[in-house]
Amino acid sequence: MTRKILIAGNWKMNGLLEDGVNLAKEVAAEVKKLGRPQCEFLVCPPFTLLYSVKKALRGAKVALGAQDAHFAVKGAHTGDISPAMLKDLGCSYVILGHSERRADHNESNELVAKKAVAAYENGLKTIICIGETEKQRDEGKTIDVCSKQILGSVPANADASNTVIAYEPVWAIGTGKTPTAKDVEEVHAAVRAVLAKKLGKSVANKMRILYGGSVKPANAKEFLSLPDVDGALIGGASLKAQDFMAIAKSVC
Ligand code: PGA
Repeated sequence: MTRKILIAGNWKMNGLLEDGVNLAKEVAAEVKKLGRPQCEFLVCPPFTLLYSVKKALRGAKVALGAQDAHFAVKGAHTGDISPAMLKDLGCSYVILGHSERRADHNESNELVAKKAVAAYENGLKTIICIGETEKQRDEGKTIDVCSKQILGSVPANADASNTVIAYEPVWAIGTGKTPTAKDVEEVHAAVRAVLAKKLGKSVANKMRILYGGSVKPANAKEFLSLPDVDGALIGGASLKAQDFMAIAKSVC
């Protein structure tokens, strides 16, 4: 089963116009140098930069994604952005259920699933995030927590063409701490088994599962070479084109 490696940058709430455009231009230039890259590239800037980043990426094989979307196509939802608006701007992906949104905005599995359905209906692919807290890991609940998040957040009509899963242990995000490669492979294999139960074996075998949480050039190869790891969701290191590309080049 060949699953194309996805190298995805989650810029989070970082970047003013000039920084964002410069970063996108650097990434675009580096990806162009790769010619026909074996990996798929994606950057997910904040909403405010989507339009300018899209222009800066012109001609490069780098997809554009957002970091969240509402479940409604339009209407009275002050401050929110709809999946149709993202599609209109040239996005092909949207990250949903990132642990920072689950924590900061109280997002539940049910809400994430509802957003995912709306994203599909508007032609967007989703990256659905799951992951345990440090306390849950210490209590030995990692697989249980991740399984429940998969069962609750991934809609029944998810398939490998519209959905990517990102396993991001909350305690590894932005901390420089990471699980061991063995731990990551164990969780990814367990996640794939839950996906198989929910969506069928064939879909589960084709669906990409990314690892995220303090991925850096120094540890990327170790994670990205694992059999059930199909790419990376990169936060901090995606803000430097050199680091982002060094992570990609470790496998692409
Ligand atoms: P990090 O963030 O690479 O800075 O740990 C990853 C993420 O939250 O997507």
